[in-house]
Amino acid sequence: MGLMDKHGLLERNSLLLTVGILIVVSIGGIIQMAPLMYMDNTIEKVDGMRPYTPLELLGRDIYVREGCYVCHSQMIRPLRDEVERYGHYSLAAESMYDHPFQWGSKRTGPDLARVGGKYSAEWQVDHLKDPRSLVPESVMPPYAFLARKSLDIRQVEDRLRTERIVGVPYTDGMIENAKGHLLAQADPNERGYDYVDDLVAEYGEAAGRENSFEMRDFDGDPQRITEMDALVAYLQMTGTLVDFSTYEAEDLGNRR
Ligand code: HEC
Repeated sequence: MGLMDKHGLLERNSLLLTVGILIVVSIGGIIQMAPLMYMDNTIEKVDGMRPYTPLELLGRDIYVREGCYVCHSQMIRPLRDEVERYGHYSLAAESMYDHPFQWGSKRTGPDLARVGGKYSAEWQVDHLKDPRSLVPESVMPPYAFLARKSLDIRQVEDRLRTERIVGVPYTDGMIENAKGHLLAQADPNERGYDYVDDLVAEYGEAAGRENSFEMRDFDGDPQRITEMDALVAYLQMTGTLVDFSTYEAEDLGNRR
């Protein structure tokens, strides 16, 4: 009965009980979290992840600025209904260059982690300008003004540099030629012509394959590079980088 008596002491003394609970819970917590901080394969190895092109990165900034995450998540959970609706569940590696990440927990609209390539760029532009023209019951607000606002590219080099500080592997060449690369993606036949080869080489090499982005006018207005161009370039890339033909889920004891 000796042990039971001692437990009785814990049960009668709320402060002692609280301390005891804290100790037990933190042991569980440490066992769960500590290995993740030391395991190399917490982020599984995948082929195809590359830093965002300058145009995609500025488009992503607009996505964040406009608060698209308030209604859209970017994380497909490993549950059957999600995978059947949206495609392969999201991998940690797919948001490794996201600062800040856009996982989200609110879905007024659908998850956007793999919306890239689901529709044409024209559809995306029309939908952003006037969602209800395509989906009559939509509650998404219109963003037509993005097609009227020129994209501010003045500080794009610094933008890449900042990402590099937090760990995105932008090369010196990517930073130096960021404006050229941006023009090459949004206007490959005119203003960006001279940089097309360099864009393909730099980001193609980083991705391990050439065609991991589109080079074109996205918003239907070839005269100008607008915020709409950037946002649609970003949307069309989401979820398309990882090469799932070479991806094998490592045996981490994942329930699959
Ligand atoms: C008030 C909530 C709300 C906000 C804010 C919002 N959306 Fe939506 N979005 C929706 C809803 C609801 C749908 C589903 C109906 C539709 O297709 O319009 C949707 C659909 C979409 C789709 C089509 C997805 C698919 O798989 O069919 C895209 C792409 C999209 N939104 C992008 C954006 C972007 C980019 C922004 C920010 C500029 C944004 N949304 C902001 C609510 C929102």
